[in-house]
Amino acid sequence: MNISERIESLLQEIEDLHAQKAQEVEELRVRLLGKKGEITSLFDEFRNVPAEQKKAFGQKLNALKNAAAAKINELKEAMEEAATSAVSSDLTKPGDYRELGTRHPISITREEIIDIFKRLGYAIATGPEIEDDYHVFEALNFPPEHPARDMQDTFFVSDGANPVLLRTHTSSVQVRTMERSKPPIRVICPGRVFRNEAISARAHCIFHQVEGLYIDKNVSFADLKQSILLFVREMFGPDTQIRMRPSYFPFTEPSTEVDISCNICGGKGCNICKGTGWLEIMGAGMVDPNVLKASGIDPNEYSGFAFGMGIERIAMLKWQVRDLRLYFENDVRFLKEFETSI
Ligand code: PHE
Repeated sequence: MNISERIESLLQEIEDLHAQKAQEVEELRVRLLGKKGEITSLFDEFRNVPAEQKKAFGQKLNALKNAAAAKINELKEAMEEAATSAVSSDLTKPGDYRELGTRHPISITREEIIDIFKRLGYAIATGPEIEDDYHVFEALNFPPEHPARDMQDTFFVSDGANPVLLRTHTSSVQVRTMERSKPPIRVICPGRVFRNEAISARAHCIFHQVEGLYIDKNVSFADLKQSILLFVREMFGPDTQIRMRPSYFPFTEPSTEVDISCNICGGKGCNICKGTGWLEIMGAGMVDPNVLKASGIDPNEYSGFAFGMGIERIAMLKWQVRDLRLYFENDVRFLKEFETSI
């Protein structure tokens, strides 16, 4: 057989190759492409081919080599595939255990808060996380350059007359709601908020809030107090008491900070409430007339209250989570503790 016939016959042989076992494929590889393999030796003989035929032979040889390599690969893959399907058809093999995921404690708490306010007739409102100064501050009665803006260290995206920023509270959603709807308004605004704070066990630069707004004729501070009392009793148990301390927010007047009786010691004083018997849970107040005016609502006709709470904080108090950072680390050992709370 001359070299050309050998190439032809090898090509034919390669086409018909088959193998039963991985070892056979390896043997084929060695026989054809190994150091002393048939194709390899053809390359050695190439030297003796007359110069004018070298080009044509070279091309044929390369094609042969590629065909052999491709075929061997194909056989290998077929073998691997057969091996895996053989394993999965073994019905006596134990199955793979898949762990079930759990809902995140922040989601569980958010749903619980929303559920309570839904029963009181509140609708859910949402808005953008990237906001402008007008909706986060100005329409909420924060005068320009007023030190109250420092209460909430802000991440700015761009500056200018109406800077773009990451919202520091979801009160911005309340402004957007007032702009587009007429009283009566009863909404809660759950969402993510951002503050430029150093991360520690008690503070994070990203957290979640639920804020609420109720505007109608003759809404009074007593309505606010009763609504909050109802909420905390649903959330923390029927014996929970509330206490309101005077506070300051630019968008409410009067403003208050609300404490609940410590749900661990029942108000006697323990290390969770630092011996005071009380735990702070939210800010609230009567909507400032300037805020109503800014959004086109007549303060002589309508009044309203607003409140806002951090979901992380509520969840911390409910389950005695001692470090805020745990919410963001996604350590399954932590998350699994909430399996039964769904
Ligand atoms: N927006 C306030 C905050 O982020 C919370 C709040 C809402 C206070 C409504 C009073 C009324 O801290």
